[in-house]
Amino acid sequence: MSTFLPVAEALAGELSPDPTTTLPAIWLRDNCHCAECRDPVSGQKLFGITDLPADLAVRQVERDGGSVSVTFEPDGHRAVYPDSWMAGVGADAGDGRTEVSKTTWVAADLAGHLPEAHWAGYVADPAERRRVLTAVQQLGFAVLHGTATTEGTVLDIARTFGFPRETNYGHLFDVRVEPSPTNLAFTGRAIAPHTDNPYRDPVPTLQLLHCLGNASEGGDSGLVDGFRAAAVLREDDPAAFDVLTRTLVPFAWADTRASLRADRPLIDVDPAGRIREVRFNNRSMQALALPGDDAARFYAAYVAFARIIARPELMVTFRLDAGDCVIFDNTRLLHARTAFSEDGARHLQGCYADLDALSSTLRVLGGPA
Ligand code: FE2
Repeated sequence: MSTFLPVAEALAGELSPDPTTTLPAIWLRDNCHCAECRDPVSGQKLFGITDLPADLAVRQVERDGGSVSVTFEPDGHRAVYPDSWMAGVGADAGDGRTEVSKTTWVAADLAGHLPEAHWAGYVADPAERRRVLTAVQQLGFAVLHGTATTEGTVLDIARTFGFPRETNYGHLFDVRVEPSPTNLAFTGRAIAPHTDNPYRDPVPTLQLLHCLGNASEGGDSGLVDGFRAAAVLREDDPAAFDVLTRTLVPFAWADTRASLRADRPLIDVDPAGRIREVRFNNRSMQALALPGDDAARFYAAYVAFARIIARPELMVTFRLDAGDCVIFDNTRLLHARTAFSEDGARHLQGCYADLDALSSTLRVLGGPA
């Protein structure tokens, strides 16, 4: 009797290419699919991990056609694992949030084929919707043309795949020149590549910018793939990459009604070291409380990362005209705009939404196109 079950022997090696890999009995029991262990309707487990016997072990393994059944000690409980289910576990690509699920890019990769679609087709055709949402998930953005030019349309667009996230800026925010701007976004100045709201935790994971009118000179939009920029830094200067993944950076923003603060690294990696999130916004970065040497190392790494982000070949540029809406991943893409003449009427409305709802909609539609 063993508490470990050789995968290659019992599961035909479908879970792992390594024939020496073994699965502990507790893994198998925790993944039993019988009606005693899981609610047949919701598929949710009906037990807690500490409800399982402390001396759990595998008594017997039988292969039968397309499945493996396991009988456990000490209670004689029996579980059946279809090969197709095991293969699915082995092929699981995760939640799609890290760099391994993305197609990273530089501007030349997208030349002549921006991910874009027409609103009418997007609304009418689920396959077109799937294509657009796949682009947002894998490239980090998509542009819709031909949407209505009425105020509030950006919220309707967000509701086609998810839920607008209300913040202290409201359900939506206007980006146009204001007489007493509280934010540089509300002037005609150029805005360097940045992610929005790094002072929030959780950060809004998606942003939409919808153009109601753009008669100004300039005011073109730019996007940079922050995952690609971070990967370039990792390649060029691994020590700098490491510093940026390990240094908590204080971000803050306040006005009379809100005081927001979040401490997060500029490059967030998952426990396996894969890039999962980028925050980059010098406007809201606060003083780092670091010893001198650490501060010097951080700033050297920060400047190196900023120089990569500023490389012209990394930024894709396009112009948003009335009825255009760009949807982008605010945990990955940095957005920018060129300066524009304040006499022309440039008016965007933006809102935040979230990637998890977009990914859910995409799965319901059948998964990435
Ligand atoms: Fe912004």
